[in-house]
Amino acid sequence: MSEPHDEAARRRTFAIISHPDAGKTTLTEKFLLYGGALQSAGAVKARGERRRVTSDWMEMEQKRGISITSTVLQFPYRNCVLNLLDTPGHRDFSEDTYRVLAAADAAIMVLDAAKGIEAQTLKLFEVCREWNLPLLTFINKWDRPGRDPLELLDQVEAQLAIVPTPVTWPVGIAGDFRGVVDRRSGTYVRFTRTARGATEAGEEVVEATDAAVEEGDAWRVAADEIGLLDEVGAHADPERFRNGEVTPVFFGSALTNFGVRLLLDAVIDLAPPPQPRLDVEGRARPLDAPFSAFAFKVQANMDPSHRDRIAFVRVCSGKFERGMVVTHQPTGKPFATKYAHSVFGQERDTIEEAWPGDVIGLVNATDVKVGDALYLDGPVEFPRLPEFAPEHFVIARVIDTGRFKQFRRGIAQLDEEGVVQVLRDQDLGDQAPMLAAVGPMQFEVASHRLEHEFGAPTELNPTTWRVARKTDESSTASLRALHGVAVYARADGTRYALFESPYWLARVEGDHPELVLERLVAEGTAG
Ligand code: G4P
Repeated sequence: MSEPHDEAARRRTFAIISHPDAGKTTLTEKFLLYGGALQSAGAVKARGERRRVTSDWMEMEQKRGISITSTVLQFPYRNCVLNLLDTPGHRDFSEDTYRVLAAADAAIMVLDAAKGIEAQTLKLFEVCREWNLPLLTFINKWDRPGRDPLELLDQVEAQLAIVPTPVTWPVGIAGDFRGVVDRRSGTYVRFTRTARGATEAGEEVVEATDAAVEEGDAWRVAADEIGLLDEVGAHADPERFRNGEVTPVFFGSALTNFGVRLLLDAVIDLAPPPQPRLDVEGRARPLDAPFSAFAFKVQANMDPSHRDRIAFVRVCSGKFERGMVVTHQPTGKPFATKYAHSVFGQERDTIEEAWPGDVIGLVNATDVKVGDALYLDGPVEFPRLPEFAPEHFVIARVIDTGRFKQFRRGIAQLDEEGVVQVLRDQDLGDQAPMLAAVGPMQFEVASHRLEHEFGAPTELNPTTWRVARKTDESSTASLRALHGVAVYARADGTRYALFESPYWLARVEGDHPELVLERLVAEGTAG
């Protein structure tokens, strides 16, 4: 009989982080190919088209390829089960990404060999560090001209303050990629192309003496560089990897499949399986404890043919069996898990059982919000996911007042899902709520969904507010009496004091030290 502990040991739950265009989609697709979940690559459609639209949601509406629309892709590889969590490919940062990474146990950072670390890589890396996620690095696009490999390693170390420890080393410069040396065994793996990378890349293990003859200069350069790495002791120590001090590095090309298998093997061999999760009191909940899970994402109307609301939960302990009745921690209410799904792209499958590390989509889990715990037997509460301070604020007004009901319903839904935060002024009420977000692209998503999903075209008007601080009831009246400060509240009662500039905020803080003006935990990562 399976036990949670054993099943957890077979699982790897991870995410891929990258700057747009570095190759996350291509790599995802290739992982599925190597995992046997795709017959041939190329099924992820319409990339050129995808580029023109601005958000994942809109892409989804237009029925894009699988890798973008899905929250989690589960596929077998070797004797393991891999759960690949999808982080949204937004050009600006969203809270969603932050939450998805809270449900991962490790991440792969994909770098474009010609570009190295880019703005979004840096931001996402910081989130991984905040969650203590062990990080593998894949230097992609080695099939075309790029930077010098040692220079790329220097950049990683200098900008991210993490020590890159190459596990594989390329033979042939970027643009003339022959194969890689696996530094663990010293074997040289030579690659051969397949047409458009549609099937697995041919790999041939070549003896060093033969490689020296056949690869000539490329081999000598690689051997010298490897000698250099050996001298500085750049080896992937498992303990330091799990602590986030070092990042094992792999070279490859997702397009031609070069190096994909070695990377996927590393997910199993190096990335940690699910560990006991700490509860709100800091106690580790054993993997074999009764079922527990936490919600990291809520999404409504994922597919026009299924108009509903799904709460994605990550299993932390025990065995999940569909139909079991679990308790929803914040309300103490029972919740029957009759409609539990695994979501693979647009496809949904009923899921019968799940284990620690797996993700389940619970359909119509109306009360379940991001961060909530679900459990069987003894209660458990997991630490709340930190909230971001919004930095962008607009006023939303429905264009046709006859659609106000739809507008209100849409606004409430977007708030609950965390697409935007909805703030209300105590005097203005519901007519013109303020929408607040970490990145401005969230407004495009909100506006698109209000119009197309709720039938309530909405105008969004800019405001002069720039900075938010959390405040409380006792400070509200004094803050509202001040010039250049507003106080707005969220549906859950959280109050924000808004300022037009950091300068004005600093003045108010200086003049009124008695007022409560709290920074939000994760502030500063966004922007
Ligand atoms: P993203 O999800 O990180 O945004 O990146 P995506 O995989 O969509 O890749 C962005 C572009 O980079 C695509 O080209 C893709 O084919 C290309 N690419 C990905 N990996 C490699 C690689 O290893 N080598 C090379 N040479 N190119 C790679 P595109 O022209 O924008 O789209 P398409 O027309 O090729 O589909």
